[in-house]
Amino acid sequence: MKPSDTITVINGPSLSQLGNRETEHYGTTTQNELLEMIEEKASMHGFKVDFIQSDIEGELVRAINSAGGTSLGVVINPAAYSHYSIAIMDAMAAFDGPVVEVHISRVFSREPFRNNLVTAQAADAFIAGAGIRGYLHAIDILQELAENTEV
Ligand code: DQA
Repeated sequence: MKPSDTITVINGPSLSQLGNRETEHYGTTTQNELLEMIEEKASMHGFKVDFIQSDIEGELVRAINSAGGTSLGVVINPAAYSHYSIAIMDAMAAFDGPVVEVHISRVFSREPFRNNLVTAQAADAFIAGAGIRGYLHAIDILQELAENTEV
């Protein structure tokens, strides 16, 4: 485990609109409420949270690259970029720690183009369809992966 107590949580495009956006897929919890839940869960593991949301692909790449060397692990929902961003996939692959990819909705039960998961190919674990709880499970998984204690 890296000598760091920080995890990086990254949200991609339009996830700032959580709470209002297509609530049948993404629920009614806002991003701020989600962040509070993330911080509470992270604190149970003794983690601090570096949280970034961006609609811009290059900023997401930069956030992943900046997490290298400073963060224990990354939880990322690349949103629409999940389906086609090689740049984000490459940044995830280059990160020197565990990466867990989260999707709030049941991506496999929606439009066929959402079955094409590019960035997930560089994730150590993948959670989809668990709603925003997926982020909280992702933090537990990250902790297990970082400590190498997974069963
Ligand atoms: C999403 C699923 C993506 O297909 C979509 O483009 C999103 C959100 C999810 O969390 O379920 O923006 O990543």
